[in-house]
Amino acid sequence: MKTFLKIYVLTFVFFSYPFFLPAQSTIPIETKDNALVLQVNAQNNLCFIYYGKKLSNGTEYEQINKEYHQSDYTGLLNSAYTPAGSRNLLEPAISVTHFDGNKSLDLKYVSQEIQTIGDNVKLFTITLKDPVYDFTVRLNYKAYYKENVIEQWSVIRHNEKGDVVLDKCASANLYLRANSYWLRQFHGDWAKEMQPEETMITHGIKTLDTKLGTRPNLFQPPVFMISFNKPATEEEGSVLFCSVEWSGNFRADLELDYQNNLRIIAGINDYASAYVLKAKQDFTTPCFLTVFSDKGKGQASLNLHRWARNYKLVDGNGNRLTLLNNWEATYFDFNEAILKGLFKDARKLGVDLFLLDDGWFANKYPRNDDRAGLGDWQENKTKLPAGIASLIEEATNDSIKFGIWLEPEMVNPKSELYENHPDWVIKQPQRDEYYFRNQLVLDLTNPKVQDFVYAIVDNLLTKNPRLAYIKWDCNAVIYNAYTPTQKNQSNFYIDYVKGLYSVLERIRNKYPILPIMLCSGGGGRLDYGALQYFTEYWPSDNTDPYERIFIQWENSYFYPAIASCNHVTDWGKQPMKFKVDVAMQGKMGFDIVVGKLNEKDFLFCRQAIAEYNTIKQTIWHGDLFRLADPYSRKVASLMYADVSKNTAVMFNYLIDNRYGSSSALPIKLKGLDPRKTYKVTEINLYPGTKSSLQADKTYSGDFLMNIGINPEVRAGRASVVLKIEAV
Ligand code: DGJ
Repeated sequence: MKTFLKIYVLTFVFFSYPFFLPAQSTIPIETKDNALVLQVNAQNNLCFIYYGKKLSNGTEYEQINKEYHQSDYTGLLNSAYTPAGSRNLLEPAISVTHFDGNKSLDLKYVSQEIQTIGDNVKLFTITLKDPVYDFTVRLNYKAYYKENVIEQWSVIRHNEKGDVVLDKCASANLYLRANSYWLRQFHGDWAKEMQPEETMITHGIKTLDTKLGTRPNLFQPPVFMISFNKPATEEEGSVLFCSVEWSGNFRADLELDYQNNLRIIAGINDYASAYVLKAKQDFTTPCFLTVFSDKGKGQASLNLHRWARNYKLVDGNGNRLTLLNNWEATYFDFNEAILKGLFKDARKLGVDLFLLDDGWFANKYPRNDDRAGLGDWQENKTKLPAGIASLIEEATNDSIKFGIWLEPEMVNPKSELYENHPDWVIKQPQRDEYYFRNQLVLDLTNPKVQDFVYAIVDNLLTKNPRLAYIKWDCNAVIYNAYTPTQKNQSNFYIDYVKGLYSVLERIRNKYPILPIMLCSGGGGRLDYGALQYFTEYWPSDNTDPYERIFIQWENSYFYPAIASCNHVTDWGKQPMKFKVDVAMQGKMGFDIVVGKLNEKDFLFCRQAIAEYNTIKQTIWHGDLFRLADPYSRKVASLMYADVSKNTAVMFNYLIDNRYGSSSALPIKLKGLDPRKTYKVTEINLYPGTKSSLQADKTYSGDFLMNIGINPEVRAGRASVVLKIEAV
């Protein structure tokens, strides 16, 4: 047996699990409540044997596989990273073409390493190697103990005599066992983001994927949930939340094999993306994120939110700015005087910041609609003769911060940028251009374009150090994928995203916590790959509060409230109170003509912002509990409770507008202390109205959580916000 086939003595950089010794073939990757367990079998294959609730006796993981009497012709069904071209009969995790054209791969266990990162995170790295070719895969499992989150990715490297083509290389390859599996997936389009569907997975492969290049989740976001044996509810059932952390084409294959076990193979989409890898270079896949819960979806999302705030989101434990945006108030039609008037409106309203949207730039081809000017990032001299600096000055005089809209990855064909650098634009040399919103995407695989995009942001911030906020938009998909700078076109989709990340990385190195909103023609680019560079995201251009209840509900499973930008606009026919109450469950903003508000609406908005300032810390940093869902109940209800269990806020919305619809039953609260006494107060009351609830009534936490409270939602009280404070 060749040396590299031997199981090397386990290499511990640090070790902390006593049951991990002596060197043996079972590798439990544990978090506070769960374990993902790998095992090296007698043939040196690395197998995925378990992902679920942690066992109290860790030595028993070793026994798990023996209890499954399932035949396997190949020894690869439960491979932790299924290689193609040798014994494999199912969907592979990795498939390559070696330097000599051979397409076979086998991967044998070599060694493992455990690295302790701080007191909450452990990184397990397991090295696999091909016995014939000098080809290595390092599988990484990063376990966040308290949050029960595990991120997986692989690093591929070879030392062959020529280039190797990675025809496919997934981030993760899971193998799950249950009687049945239920998939909750999401689809959408512009203004229809995050539409859920839940179905039982049948045999064969269900693929979730996108091929749009940029804004990949316009049609299908890279998040999904798998429930085991029956669909999980908020509080019950076993469920695995999953997400590919990649802002480009992703693919997740859910293969129910002939043994009735579920294989999940997820990562970058191999569509048009066979990647050429030179010798001695690492190819690192994006992370695949999972969080398992045996206590229903509520617990999984609580953990995910905590993880996102602590480890992923920029400034996840910091503050956010309320704002007034001018997009729907003016669209492209504004000038200096109008904007300066809006600063005053922002000040009167009491928000922190004014956000100037699209339309402020370009001169030869002014940006007066979406057909021209994109790419020419100089202030439009007709609209803004004194430039951005003077606007910031004026806003500062009004005690308002100033933010700006950018779409730096894009170009209109009618622009100086396009005229000067046609080779910077993604298009096929011999085919007609094809546009999405009259624009094309810049070629971020080209380092010169990366420098250009970085400079747009850096120059603005250098010239205007008081610029306090950026909305980073991305409105087009990639058509006619092609770059003139590369011989090998199949690296293009992957290198585009790497180019984007490298620009964002440079921006974050220089401006580590500047608030930047991730926007993509609505919520078309929302994933944890992107969110590591952003403080917040725009869920949808659809701000009809009724629609938003559903979109925000689904997003709330995966993303914390502090990141969700919810704006009050003219969309929807609901009264102002309803709109504001919906926008409050996240980071609130406004996009309305303040001057057109009637006196009561204006007064209400102003009071609501002041009220929001007293509860926003609980919404942003507290735990979210979804109490009554908008699909099956007449009233949707959710609440945020701070970790000290002293303050909570509950939002209730009438969903069903049929005659007599109301909150007939009490709604049970969560996240409180049963022994504490709480005062319940209705807040956000519209001027001239009174709460129908008894003022300052107190309840025990026990009562609120076991019997519940009736917010008395009904026609005329279609949305009710309650503040719950320990007394
Ligand atoms: C799409 C965004 O989603 C909108 O909020 C707005 O910024 C427009 N782009 C501007 O073109």
